[in-house]
Amino acid sequence: MKICCIGAGYVGGPTMAMIAKKCPEIDVMVVDINAERIAAWQSDELPIYEPGLLEVVQEARGRNLFFSTDIDEAIRAADVVFVSVNTPTKTFGEGAGRASDLQYWELCARRIKDVSTSDKIIVEKSTLPVRTADAMERVLHAGDKQVHFEVLSNPEFLAEGTAISDLESPDRVLIGGHETESGQVALQTLVDIYASWIPRERILTSNVWSAELSKLTANAFLAQRVSSINAISQLCEATEANVAEVAHAIGTDSRIGSKFLKASVGFGGSCFKKDILNLAYLCETYGLHEAAAYWQQVVDMNEFQQNRFVKTILSSMFNTIAGKRIAVLGFAFKADTGDTRESPAISVCKELASEQAQVVISDPKALDNAEKDLADATGIMFEEDPYEAVVDAHALAILTEWDVYKTLDYQRIFDAMEKPAFLFDGRNILDHTALHKIGFEVYSIGKGRLTHLD
Ligand code: UDX
Ligand code: ADP
Repeated sequence: MKICCIGAGYVGGPTMAMIAKKCPEIDVMVVDINAERIAAWQSDELPIYEPGLLEVVQEARGRNLFFSTDIDEAIRAADVVFVSVNTPTKTFGEGAGRASDLQYWELCARRIKDVSTSDKIIVEKSTLPVRTADAMERVLHAGDKQVHFEVLSNPEFLAEGTAISDLESPDRVLIGGHETESGQVALQTLVDIYASWIPRERILTSNVWSAELSKLTANAFLAQRVSSINAISQLCEATEANVAEVAHAIGTDSRIGSKFLKASVGFGGSCFKKDILNLAYLCETYGLHEAAAYWQQVVDMNEFQQNRFVKTILSSMFNTIAGKRIAVLGFAFKADTGDTRESPAISVCKELASEQAQVVISDPKALDNAEKDLADATGIMFEEDPYEAVVDAHALAILTEWDVYKTLDYQRIFDAMEKPAFLFDGRNILDHTALHKIGFEVYSIGKGRLTHLD
């Protein structure tokens, strides 16, 4: 069997590498229009940072895992074509700022139709609005070609930073197919591929629309938990309750569960915001205005939480940060990735810069992306070494929960900073009492502040 995957990004690359590793008898060809990205996948400097990924790629690459820019040939040769291209939020026209921009996805569908000379299974991997498979089928079958395409929805649930373990041992794999004979045959083909390493009871099957909608729904529910605990963090700060204690107390209720209850400066990543906006837009499209407003609030709360973090910095530092050096530790949207898409650090740093602060950003893996994200902002510097970043800083803000920040020498950092030395822990990863004892003015999310000033 030959598989082709169109789109060598955060989803397509790791997912295909895992399939190739686990199914040595299947040839896996990953293609992309971006030649630089393909060259990086062919080298040991992979285009994305993901713990454990290089080992998986090295095991299969050249054996049954290949990367190429020859998209047409890869499609022609394949029995199964995964479509894993980006579907960002539309920035223009109808639905701008909310709807999914499907132009890259439709280009793929047209290309598949144009170059195919044999029947194929087309697998939607990209996150798409529910009922996209319908549109895809119409594009694929337009004209008079005698080739049959069977479209399946197989949304990817991996999270960045844990992609390899998520792929190796997922909670579930979801495959949606049509309830026709050819639909069920195609669905079984994909089930058998995953069954090479995933127990069959964890491979769920459904109709195509349920699979498409489940991906949006899963991300909306996860993001909703973060926005819910962040809303509670605001109340904690006002009442001397401690959000970590509240999260622990509710999380031990098995009906609620303990995951995704970490209060933070806000959620980021390529999926949550985009998918919820898309969900809300879809609801609007079907005239479901109340449902749209309900989900929109999850995004609004997230934006408020980021903005509130900057307001706390400003008000605690005597309402002026102009000219003050502020060290930002962490720019990635979460730990263990270099990805900065929708990272709360972007809006926080831009707002700090607009207050004329001198912002110095440090991050173990995301400085290149940070420079691109902030190309238009002024007064921003980049520094790999966190100990250099804090020299003469009035404040230190933690924006990503990198492990390395938990074990820095905070006495050394305090000594290097201006006084009073402010510390804003946007991820609640540090020992705040110990920092306060060193002399810091400590502000966190959802806990009372620890200061020497009042
Ligand atoms: C998410 C989904 O988890 C994944 O299933 C889907 O396939 C893609 O979207 P990802 O964006 O990689 O994955 O990261 P995730 O771990 O979900 O975190 C998203 C954001 O929420 C991060 O910014 C993270 O820091 C934040 N978060 C998460 C919190 O602020 N608190 C939490 O308790 C959990
Ligand atoms: P994700 O996080 O969903 O994987 P990425 O943006 O990381 O998204 O990856 C999507 C990839 O799809 C990019 O590398 C992009 O170049 C590629 N791509 C977009 N459109 C096409 C296309 N028409 N043909 C081939 N590759 C494409």
